[in-house]
Amino acid sequence: MRRFLALSLMGIAVALLAATKGVDEKLAKKGAALFKSKGCTACHTVGKGKLVGPDLKGVTERREYDWLVAMITNPDSMLKYDPVAKELLKEYKVPMTDQNVSKKEAKAIIEYLRKESQK
Ligand code: HEC
Repeated sequence: MRRFLALSLMGIAVALLAATKGVDEKLAKKGAALFKSKGCTACHTVGKGKLVGPDLKGVTERREYDWLVAMITNPDSMLKYDPVAKELLKEYKVPMTDQNVSKKEAKAIIEYLRKESQK
């Protein structure tokens, strides 16, 4: 029984380690600040439900990395040409606005979203 417990605990520890693997904490922190300063919080929550736009918790699992960079840096053309973004627009009806985010800034924001999605 004791052995079983010890093994289970080890299993949990390993699973936790695997889940948080590879998060760049420094970059994620920068992303958290940008998420606020770039106005994303006006339309999005991360894990607190829909606002004007979708809840972004888990978005790093539902979308490809490059897709996310494109959506964050250039929503206008994504909403015009990308089939997934067009579907989202149909659902949410409001077009996401261009918040003037550079590719580098988008990467930090995505790291933040990735970190939050693992909670
Ligand atoms: C004016 C409101 C608004 C602002 C500001 C805004 N968004 Fe959005 N966002 C939306 C809406 C609405 C959608 C869904 C597509 C649509 O209708 O345009 C969306 C979609 C997204 C998606 C895709 C979600 C999914 O489920 O695939 C991501 C990622 C995203 N936004 C990130 C951001 C980030 C990061 C910022 C800040 C730089 C931001 N958004 C600022 C409204 C906004």
